[in-house]
Amino acid sequence: MILAPLRGVTIRTFRRVFAAPMAEARLTESVQPFVPAMKGLDPLKDRELSGGPGNECATPQFIGKDPAALRECLKRIKDAGWKFADLNCGCPFPMIRKKGRGSGILKTPGVLAQMLEAGCDVMGPGKFSAKTRLGLDAADELLSVAEVFNAFPLRRVTIHARTARQMYEGDCDLAAFRAAASALRVPVVYNGDASLDGRAPGGVPCEELGCADVMVGRSFVRSLAVHTDISPLLSRYIDESLAELGSERPVLGRIKELVAYWRDRPEWSRKWGVVKIARSLRELRIALLR
Ligand SMILES: Cc1cc2nc3c(=O)[nH]c(=O)nc-3n(C[C@H](O)[C@H](O)[C@H](O)COP(=O)(O)O)c2cc1C
Repeated sequence: MILAPLRGVTIRTFRRVFAAPMAEARLTESVQPFVPAMKGLDPLKDRELSGGPGNECATPQFIGKDPAALRECLKRIKDAGWKFADLNCGCPFPMIRKKGRGSGILKTPGVLAQMLEAGCDVMGPGKFSAKTRLGLDAADELLSVAEVFNAFPLRRVTIHARTARQMYEGDCDLAAFRAAASALRVPVVYNGDASLDGRAPGGVPCEELGCADVMVGRSFVRSLAVHTDISPLLSRYIDESLAELGSERPVLGRIKELVAYWRDRPEWSRKWGVVKIARSLRELRIALLR
């Protein structure tokens, strides 16, 4: 199983601190939260990518619509040691989508083709992938660009079984997912409300959906709430986040965003009431770790 990119949550420091729970959950790879592929922007300056890949099995993800800029970014990361990369074709936010990036790229098949070509050229056959949605407004839109994906030797296409309009809520559409998976001739990965036992909503095994792998995001993050080592792990996450970010305020924001995933659990709902109003790391630690 693959850990999904959750920007602001499954970031590099998170993946380092929570490496043991990830391994216990059989998450053997992660896709990194997206980094923009833009002219003049050095991807190796981004915190996700600075310092090289190390021992982590993580795939950098880029978002953009400029094939030349993508080529430059991919050359930089390949030289720095990364073997794989992914293109974000699924981000649903209107600001991004309306500019033809993220899920918006599905509306411009010519640009999509040039981006996939750039990725496969630079990283090599079987080393570049894409992560997308069923469509923007309708769940059958991916079908109309299936041949664009099929034209390239992609490592995989991960499909979040929702439309961009749905954002992150509402039911995943397994019938539309099946239709998209069967139209694609590249390996397909299921994503969207999957459980940690690798099943799609309703307990459907991923093999029944025509895919070999599953990508899991929020259910893994939620599962940390009941991990036996959560207190020492959280304490370490605060320490390492402070070392990374250099001041208390962004660390507070980061930890609150994580703990918000646990607020509906009985054992966390009272703690959450205190955590969300904490104004310093001292207050946060008292609320979290007592
Ligand atoms: C806070 C947040 C940040 C996300 N950031 C990214 C991202 O950087 N790149 C991406 O492809 N998807 C991103 N996603 C989408 C997730 O990777 C995933 O497709 C979605 O959450 C559905 O999977 P899940 O139900 O297993 O969480 C994000 C989702 C959330 C909730």
